[in-house]
Amino acid sequence: MPAEELKREIANGVIFWVVEEDGRLVAVMGIQDKEEVALVRHAYVTPTMQRKGVGTKLLRHVEGLTEKPTLIGTWADASWAIAFYQRNGYRVVPNQYKDALLRKYWSIPSRQVETSVVLANARWMEARQRAPADS
Ligand SMILES: CC(C)(COP(=O)(O)OP(=O)(O)OC[C@H]1O[C@@H](n2cnc3c(N)ncnc32)[C@H](O)[C@@H]1OP(=O)(O)O)[C@@H](O)C(=O)NCCC(=O)NCCS
Repeated sequence: MPAEELKREIANGVIFWVVEEDGRLVAVMGIQDKEEVALVRHAYVTPTMQRKGVGTKLLRHVEGLTEKPTLIGTWADASWAIAFYQRNGYRVVPNQYKDALLRKYWSIPSRQVETSVVLANARWMEARQRAPADS
């Protein structure tokens, strides 16, 4: 991510957490408070450290910082990322809610809305079930 974008994301309220090993940055993940939900943003583990539990540890950490329902947006084609979040208790949000969520909480172009999915944790799914049918 270019430095300017990083600055902008921090200014927009994304709080980044990192994992270091021997002083080297090996993973990053952000959490952003957005009204009634929190978004997990910019998850990245360096390739040589992937599939060793680092992403799961960092996800548990950032999730633990909020009591709000948590959402994650990623590319529909990113099967590895979807598998990662599903393994960590997230579910793909039904299509009927996905576009509205992406437009409400993310600032992304229409094309990216089409090619993205949203995953939600159990807290969001429970809140959704309690909400009136038309909301
Ligand atoms: C997605 C990501 C953050 C996961 O972090 P990680 O440290 O590799 O994940 P963990 O080791 O905690 O969990 C591993 C599980 O995630 C999924 N997973 C991770 N990488 C995968 C891959 N390349 N292919 C398929 N599944 C993968 C699997 O379910 C895997 O379990 P398994 O190894 O038993 O099959 C990391 O792979 C990454 O940075 N990928 C590139 C950037 C990216 O796609 N970020 C997500 C954008 S929202």
